[in-house]
Amino acid sequence: MPRTIVITGASSGLGEALALRYAREPNSRLGLIGRNRERLENVAQRCRDVGAAVSVAAIDVRSRAMMEDWLRRFDDENPIDLLIANAGVMTGSVAAGEIEPAEIAYQLVEINVLGVLNTVQPVVSRMIARGRGQIAIMSSIAGFVPLPDAPSYGASKAAALNYGLALRELLQPRGIKVSVVCPGYVSTAMTHQESGSKPFAIPPDRAAELIERGLAQDPAIITFPTFFALLTRLSGLLPDWLRRRTNAPFRFTVKDRDLRD
Ligand SMILES: NC(=O)c1ccc[n+]([C@@H]2O[C@H](COP(=O)([O-])OP(=O)(O)OC[C@H]3O[C@@H](n4cnc5c(N)ncnc54)[C@H](OP(=O)(O)O)[C@@H]3O)[C@@H](O)[C@H]2O)c1
Repeated sequence: MPRTIVITGASSGLGEALALRYAREPNSRLGLIGRNRERLENVAQRCRDVGAAVSVAAIDVRSRAMMEDWLRRFDDENPIDLLIANAGVMTGSVAAGEIEPAEIAYQLVEINVLGVLNTVQPVVSRMIARGRGQIAIMSSIAGFVPLPDAPSYGASKAAALNYGLALRELLQPRGIKVSVVCPGYVSTAMTHQESGSKPFAIPPDRAAELIERGLAQDPAIITFPTFFALLTRLSGLLPDWLRRRTNAPFRFTVKDRDLRD
C-alpha cells in the first residue's frame, strides 16, 4: 500500500538517508523539507529515480506560519502517514570550557525544539481526526545525559525526548503511533564539525535502516548502537560526581559555529 511520508531536514545526513530509504517503498510519496533548495532537489531527484513521487519545500522549520501552511496543503492532497521531525543543528564550545553565545543558543533551541512543534502541531489534529498516523521525533543519546560542551543542544534533545514520550502516551488511545529516535554518533556533516572521540559511529544509511526497522515495530524509543546507548542511559543514573568522571573521555569542542543558515 502506498505511503505518504514527510521528513524535515531531508537535505543531508540522516534525513537524506531516510528519504532515500523510504523512496524505495512501492509507490511512496515523499514530502521533503529543508532550507537549502539545491541540496533538497538533489535528494528529491535521487528519490524519484527509484520510483517515489516527491514534493520539496525549502522552508526554515522556525517559520511556524510557513510550516503550517505547507504541511496542511500537502496533507490535504496526500494525508500524511508518517511524519519525521528530524531537522536539527548542533553547536557547543569552540574552545574547551567556553560558554556558547546567547544568540547561538537561542537559535539552536528555536530550530531543535520549536521546529519540532512547528512540524508536529499542524499535522497532529489531522491524524487525530483520521484515527491513524505515525510520528517520529529525532532526539539523540545526548538527550539522556547533560552535555557540558553543548548545553543547549543536550537540553533541546532532552526536550524532544520528553515531548515525544508525552505525545506517545496521549495519542496512543487515538490510534496514533509516536516514537522518539535517540541515535548515538552518525557520520554526517553534524558530527564532522565535532572534535573528540565518536565511539561506535555508524554511517547514515545504516542509521536510516535501524530507524526504519524500529518505526515498523512502534517502540517508545529507538536508540542505537545498543551497547553505547545502554552505557549512556546508565551513566545518567550515576551520582553526579561519578557521571562526570565517566563522561570525561567524551568531552569535545566544535570546529565552528556555522548553523548552516
Ligand atoms: N549525526 C549524529 O551523530 C546525530 C546523533 C543523534 C541525533 N542526531 C540528530 O539527527 C538530526 C539530523 O542531523 P544530521 O546528523 O543528519 O545533521 P546534518 O547532516 O547537518 O543535517 C541536518 C538537517 O537539518 C536541516 N536543518 C537544519 N536547520 C534547519 C532549519 N532551521 N529548517 C529546516 N531544516 C533545517 C538541514 O537542512 P538545511 O541545511 O538545508 O536547512 C539538514 O537537512 C538532527 O536533529 C540531529 O540532532 C544526529
